[in-house]
Amino acid sequence: MLTTTRYRISQLAAGTILNTQVKVQGWVRNKRESKNVVFISLNDGSTFHNLQIVGDPDQLGESLMRRINSGASLTVTGLIQASQGKGQKVELAAATIEVDGEANPEIYPLQPKKHSLEYLREIAHLRPRSQTFGAVFRIRHAMIFAVHQFFNNRGFYNIHTPIITGSDAEGAGEMFRVSTLDPINPPLNDEGEIDHSKDFFAKETNLTVSGQLEVEAFAQSMGLVYTFGPTFRAENSNTSRHLAEFWMIEPEMAYYDLKDNMDLAEAFLKDLVNYALLNCQSDLEFLNNRGEQEEQQKPQQQRQELNLLERLKLVSEHQFERIDYTQAFDILRNCKPNKKKKFQFIIEEWGCDLQSEHERYLVEKHFKKPVIIYNYPKKIKAFYMRSNDDDRTVAAMDVLFPGIGEVVGGSQREERLDQLSTRMQEMGISEKDLWWYLDLRKFGSVPHSGFGLGFERLVQFVTGMTNIRDVIPFPRTPGNADF
Ligand code: 4AD
Ligand code: MG
Repeated sequence: MLTTTRYRISQLAAGTILNTQVKVQGWVRNKRESKNVVFISLNDGSTFHNLQIVGDPDQLGESLMRRINSGASLTVTGLIQASQGKGQKVELAAATIEVDGEANPEIYPLQPKKHSLEYLREIAHLRPRSQTFGAVFRIRHAMIFAVHQFFNNRGFYNIHTPIITGSDAEGAGEMFRVSTLDPINPPLNDEGEIDHSKDFFAKETNLTVSGQLEVEAFAQSMGLVYTFGPTFRAENSNTSRHLAEFWMIEPEMAYYDLKDNMDLAEAFLKDLVNYALLNCQSDLEFLNNRGEQEEQQKPQQQRQELNLLERLKLVSEHQFERIDYTQAFDILRNCKPNKKKKFQFIIEEWGCDLQSEHERYLVEKHFKKPVIIYNYPKKIKAFYMRSNDDDRTVAAMDVLFPGIGEVVGGSQREERLDQLSTRMQEMGISEKDLWWYLDLRKFGSVPHSGFGLGFERLVQFVTGMTNIRDVIPFPRTPGNADF
């Protein structure tokens, strides 16, 4: 028996396959029907483009026609041919249509009209069928691929660090506990506290906030390594840039100092953005138009100066500005919004942490390009960052992007045992729990550096989606773990 070859719509949309019998399978976006002809736009997720199916309602029959509605899944065979209509290169003249799964138009939640992003979040299981989310998640995939390609091309090894961790040094009270103890009736010790020696791992465990400490062990053996995994933070931040579960890419490099670290972060981000510009054209064009339409709805002063494609080129084509914390502090203390008390947090004293309003001012108003701030006050940074000779700053760096603020945070690590141990004591971090981390400074310690890129923040930047909940398949945020 002769079977018709199955194609994905991405293969057909280019218009190079013509006058061939094909089979396609996907979901109905829309159906337009007149007396003599029916047009069905079919999408199979392989591309932003829908395939236009053209059929004769009489020939297909009334009962079949009634079962073809938005959301239904179809298998269609027929001849692929040049389209007479506008908007697509090819169309499929249907010979046979099978309805694989019906979708009752009275209750199907996704109608072929514009829904709000808030509404689509409530139907997160169906939103990938919408144009916007199809585009976002294809780009998300492209970025995952580009991450691995970037590191593979540079001789880095991908290391899977654990998701359940026994150390809470980095978490400082923002971790999700992992336990199999009976929550109603947990075993208690003599002091009446929960007896974690009876727990699954015979100790307290949490979901990891970062794979960094563990991946450092591999940097000090395999040289150039990175993790790319889920991380969890129980901070109660209901913002458009925070998730309780997000993915992070953390490279760690032996013999890299802070400058090498910044150079790598800049090359990495440029590479990812370039990859999207080269490989995600139709999805980016769609999201660019979508973004421009959204901007039109806003009052003039609130509109972004650059559209999505211009923002991407801003990153790929310009050198990032690099300034140290003290320079950033001076710019911010003397800037108009600070003097006029327009910032929510007024910049007064050297040593204060920078909030996203300050980061965005530097990037969007002052420099108008990505900015790397380095050498932060040690008081506001983690224990493992390398002390500078001034003894008040550490070799930290953050990369700030327009519209997002911080996308990358990293540092050169403290490789000197004495300094690290002193710092841990000052910050009340248990040397006993992190004995193995200190061991790495005892045996063949080397200077090394690394950083963490928040993957969803990157995808937000590349897609122009304003809320981080719209770039991860099923977002977890305070009060929300449906699906
Ligand atoms: O700056 P952070 O906390 O750095 C670390 O975790 C280091 N261990 C990284 C390293 O040096 N290896 O987080 C790194 C990045 C941030 O710059 C931000 O992009 C992202 O992770 N991030 C979040 N993204 C979404 N939701 C959250 N709650 C996030 N918290 C941090
Ligand atoms: Mg940070």
